[in-house]
Amino acid sequence: MTSPFLSSAEGLIARKPVLGGLVAALMTEGQYDFWSRELGSTAAWRRVFARVVAAQWEAADTLTLTLRPNRNLGQVSAGQHLTVSADIAGRRHCRSYSLSRLASGRDICLTVRREPGGLVSNFLHDHVQVGDVLELSQPYGDLATGLVSDATRPLLMLAAGSGITAIYNLLASMAASGRSLQGELLYWEKQPDRFCFTEELNRLQAEHAGLRVSRFCNATEGREDAERGRLDAALAARLAGAYPAASIVACGGGAFVTAARELLGGVGKEFRAEAFTPSFATIDDETDEQFYELVLRRSGKTLRVSSRQSLLEQIEDAGLSPEHGCRMGICNSCSCQQRGGESVNELSGAALRGQGAVRLCVSRANSDLELDL
Ligand code: FES
Repeated sequence: MTSPFLSSAEGLIARKPVLGGLVAALMTEGQYDFWSRELGSTAAWRRVFARVVAAQWEAADTLTLTLRPNRNLGQVSAGQHLTVSADIAGRRHCRSYSLSRLASGRDICLTVRREPGGLVSNFLHDHVQVGDVLELSQPYGDLATGLVSDATRPLLMLAAGSGITAIYNLLASMAASGRSLQGELLYWEKQPDRFCFTEELNRLQAEHAGLRVSRFCNATEGREDAERGRLDAALAARLAGAYPAASIVACGGGAFVTAARELLGGVGKEFRAEAFTPSFATIDDETDEQFYELVLRRSGKTLRVSSRQSLLEQIEDAGLSPEHGCRMGICNSCSCQQRGGESVNELSGAALRGQGAVRLCVSRANSDLELDL
């Protein structure tokens, strides 16, 4: 039974936005967040906590969590991501997931695939249950910002693997807004039991005469609605001919998105792409591995780092936990100041010499280096 003290404290916590001045006089932000969690509330001063209110299997090893965030979460829109933080074996780990299904009210859905070695993904699959509370970041990403201002323009959507989560959310949101969908969704999976949102995509296709959904899987046994085939020059030529004025959106792993950009980047009216794994095209496998001294000024540590691995991974391996989110150069949450030396951005190949902002997750050392970390 809840004591009168606890229930009145919980009431105070829950009414913090109204009683902000009084609560601020009584406790610090850290105390407020701590007691809120102790009392089973998701209220927080500024942080975003969300309760898991439902879990639903989409396909083998792919789970959708419906989350009810506190009022600190800003406006979310289709095509965006959120970072989920989890304490695993005494360390905080963060990973980004795309918004996936449409949810009612302020609830949001994230769809998570179990991956070999996927620390946070596997934790969410194995340990998180309905009723648990997760911490989220604010939403970020601009995949859909300004996309298709002309509602009559066809859409060409290319999704590979988990890339379908953002693409499905975009299509479903457009349909929910009353738009008539025109164009084609091409969706690749490696295994036939991994296709997600099958019923919903079939329903969208049935409801929108102008929309075609094509599935591709080279292991087609047990999946009659999938064709064989890769995204190659022949398929790109067919698409370029069929959709010369389309808005093209590609989402998938780094190699897939690179191929889509090369084959279709110049086709159509606009081309958007987002990778959920970085494509480190600038790593030269022929270059010998070098080792450098990395000085972390604020931590007072000096590490020996390799030229072949991201700064973020190596700093984490040394037992530190720098801020991070997407781990693929999008969210900017791992950005810190470089004070000296030279680093290379793996995505662009650009070198940063001396002072400037460096994204740790997609940068490696190219000389002895000093960071304000
Ligand atoms: S973690 Fe998102 S940019 Fe580095």
